[in-house]
Amino acid sequence: MTNEPESQNAPLDRSSFVVRHSSASAPGKIILCGEHAVVYNRPAIALPLHHVRAHAAVEPAKTADGFSFSAPDFGRTWLLDAKPDDPLSLFTVEVLRALGVKDMPALHVTITSAIPIASGMGSGAAVATALVRALANRFGATLTNEQISALVYENERRLHGMPSGIDNTVIAFERPVWFEREQTLSPPSSSVQFIPIASPFTLLIADTGVRSATKLPIGDLRRRWQAESADYEALFDQVGEIAHAVRAALASGEIVALGSLLDRNHMLLQQLGVSSPELDQLVQVAKDAGALGAKLSGAGWGGVMLALVTAQIQQRVADALQSAGATQVLATVVEAVLEQQ
Ligand code: MEV
Repeated sequence: MTNEPESQNAPLDRSSFVVRHSSASAPGKIILCGEHAVVYNRPAIALPLHHVRAHAAVEPAKTADGFSFSAPDFGRTWLLDAKPDDPLSLFTVEVLRALGVKDMPALHVTITSAIPIASGMGSGAAVATALVRALANRFGATLTNEQISALVYENERRLHGMPSGIDNTVIAFERPVWFEREQTLSPPSSSVQFIPIASPFTLLIADTGVRSATKLPIGDLRRRWQAESADYEALFDQVGEIAHAVRAALASGEIVALGSLLDRNHMLLQQLGVSSPELDQLVQVAKDAGALGAKLSGAGWGGVMLALVTAQIQQRVADALQSAGATQVLATVVEAVLEQQ
C-alpha cells in the first residue's frame, strides 16, 4: 500500500477523500497480579481500563511543515523532521513503513490521554496503540490485534529495555489476559489466553502521584537477580503460584480468596524491592479501611496501587486513600467474562 491515490479510474480516492480525518483510541491497563515475575517467564494477569483512554487523531497537515504532532496533555508540539529521534517520531516512521506508506505524508497527529504517565497504567503503550490504529484507518489498512500488539511491543522494547509484552497485549486486545512469556525475547501470541471471570468485582486504583519510569525498577531488579538469582527465582515462583490461584479464584468467583492473594502478591513485590513507602502506605490504608486485598500495580517505585472492594466499603476505602494523599482514586468494575467469549 502507498499513500498515492489508488488510480485515475478509481471511483473514490479513499486516502484523500473519505478518510481525511481518522481517530482511534486505546485503553489504559492495570496488572492484577504477576508483574515483574512475568518478565522472568512466570504468568501474570492484566485487565484493560476501558474508561481511561488515550486518543490519536490524524488529519491533513495545516501547514507546509510535513508531519507534525501535538500532545496537549503532555504540553508538547513538534515536527517529525525536527525531532526524528523522539520516541513517537521513530515509532510513527516504523508504523508507516509497516503500513507500506512509501513517502512521508503531510499529516498532523493530535494525541490526548487521560492515562497518567509513568504510573503503571500503560500510558505509553496506549498512546502507541491509538496511534497505530489511527494511522491504519487513515491509510485504509486493516491490522489484526496481534499485528498491532507486535508493533507496539517493539516500541515498548525501545522505551523499557526488556518488557514482557503484557502491556501491549492487554491494551491491543482490550480484554482480561493471562500472559505467559516463553523463553524468547518477542511475545509469542500462543502465550496469551482470555480468562473467564465468574462474577464482577470492583477495584479502586489510587495514584501515589510519584512518577517512576518503568525501566528503573525493572533494571534494578535485573541487577539484583543477576547477583542472587536463586533467591529471586524462588520469589518469582511464588508470584507465579499466586497468578495460578488468582486465575482459579476469578473462574469460580471467589472474591474473598482473590483479596488474600492480592495481599500476598504485594508482600512478594516488597521482597522483590519494587514497592515504595508511598505505595506501602496506600496499601495499608486501604486494608485498614476494609479492602479485601491491596497491592501495588505495574512496575512500582511509584505509580498506582489497587484495592479490591465491595459495594459496602467502596466509599470508605476511597475516602481513606484520598485522605492519605492519593492524588487520584478511580473505581473500575471488572465485568464477568464467559469462558467461550
Ligand atoms: C509493567 O506494566 C509490568 C512489568 O512486569 C514489566 C513488564 O511486564 O514488561 C513490571
